[in-house]
Order: sequence, then C-alpha cells, then structure tokens
Amino acid sequence: MIQHLLHISHVSKHFGGNVAVSDVSFSVNEKQIFGLIGPNGAGKTTLFNCITGFFPATAGDVIFDNKKINALRPDQVCKLGMVRTWQRVKPLENLTVLENVMVGAFSITNSTGEAEANAMEQLQKVGLTDYVKKSAGSLPIGLKKKLELARVLATHPKMLLLDEICGGLNHTETDLLLDIIRGIRMKGATIVFIEHDMKAVTSICDRIVVLNSGEKLAEGTPEEITSNPDVIAAYLGGGHHA
Ligand SMILES: Nc1ncnc2c1ncn2[C@@H]1O[C@H](COP(=O)(O)OP(=O)(O)O)[C@@H](O)[C@H]1O
Ligand SMILES: [Mg+2]
Repeated sequence: MIQHLLHISHVSKHFGGNVAVSDVSFSVNEKQIFGLIGPNGAGKTTLFNCITGFFPATAGDVIFDNKKINALRPDQVCKLGMVRTWQRVKPLENLTVLENVMVGAFSITNSTGEAEANAMEQLQKVGLTDYVKKSAGSLPIGLKKKLELARVLATHPKMLLLDEICGGLNHTETDLLLDIIRGIRMKGATIVFIEHDMKAVTSICDRIVVLNSGEKLAEGTPEEITSNPDVIAAYLGGGHHA
C-alpha cells in the first residue's frame, strides 16, 4: 500500500517582514523521488530547514511517518529517519573521508567497528573507496557532494532531502549521481530533491512542486510541470535554467 511518508500542511516561515515560505502544502509518498523547484530565493532551502528542524516553521505542520515533528531538533528528526544534505557542502575538512562518514554512522551506533563497516559500505555505494584516507578538504566539489551523500546514507534514513546535490557538477558527474540516487530509492528510501537542472529533475522525479516567491505555484508530474503555462512564465521561460 502506498502511504504518505511526509506531509507538509500550510507551512509558512517569516523572517521579520520577509515571508520566505507562505502556506505551502504537499505530501510525499513512500519511495517517491519528489522534486522541489523554483527560482533562487523561492524558499526551497528554507522549507528544508523547517522540515528538518533547523528552525521552526512560523505556522503549519510537518508530519513525518505519522508524527508531528514541528518542534523537534535536527538530531531528533535524524533519529526518526530523515536527513538532509546542504546546498553548500560542509564536510569536516581536516578529517578523512572515512571519518566524515563515520560521524554520520555514529548516529545509529556507538561501536567504532560497526561505524567503520557502515561507512565503508556507503563509500562503496557512492564510489569513493579510493579516497577513504584522503582529507575531506582535499576533494574536488564533485567528490565532496558524493561524500555528503555517503554521510547521510550512513544514518540509514527512510527519507533524504537533497539540496542542490548536483549543483556545480558537470553532466557526467550529474548523471552518475542521479544513478546513485535511483539506486538509493530502489533500496526503499524516499527522496525530496531540490535541483535547478530541469533535465535532471524531469528525468528522476515522479512528482514535482514548484515554489515561487515562497508560494506553491504548481504541483504535478514532470510532463504536467514542464507544460504548465504559469510555471513556464515564472520559472522555465526565462531561459536561465533551460
Ligand atoms: N536565516 C535566514 N534569515 C533571514 N532570511 C532568510 C534566511 N534564510 C533564507 N532567508 C530568505 O528567505 C528567502 C528564501 O530563501 P531560500 O530558502 O534560501 O531560497 P531558495 O533555496 O529557494 O533559493 C530569501 O528571501 C532569503 O533571503
Ligand atoms: Mg536554496
């Protein structure tokens, strides 16, 4: 049976007089890859921050796995099975690649041996086994993005929120990462995917929500979204994301 794993209900976030997110509602089903798109400043990252407990929503409810999680901290949300990656990747630069992923693994075990085995498994999934001993800070951006993904995978999440994980990557690196993400979904995880590259979004997402100036402009399948006149006018028509 298909179930909603995440339900966003009338969520708003105000920063003083600035309404970053305004009355946004949508639901994400189990094992979906769900796209969140919209112009810069539309409120996508802010919504992720509200969902994952980095700051509370001003109004509305975030329901994950049938629990209201509005007031929870990021570590508590992580324990429930939801993790996010950062638009600007922030590995612990002086630790090795392996140690960075072990930090994620320690959220579900206190055993160093288990954490290391888990971390190695995730590094294998994202194709970073050649870099385990390298310092994280020495990696180029494409590999830092893979490291970021391995770090959150080590928490064994039910749901991953990926904030522009393909940003700054070339087409080959993007295609590789999309395949890895498809593999993660095949193993049973649910994914919410913020991304500007429309080719990437439409190729991987089952369903898409478009934000514009903090408001939900449209929701539908990739075909519905790319042919929606409001979306074309507000976002796709400008030529800057084609
Ligand atoms: N911590 C914050 N404090 C104040 N304003 C913020 C903060 N985070 C985001 N904003 C504002 O919220 C709006 C949405 O930003 P953001 O969520 O980063 O958009 P997107 O990720 O879609 O590009 C912008 O006007 C931004 O300046
Ligand atoms: Mg953003």
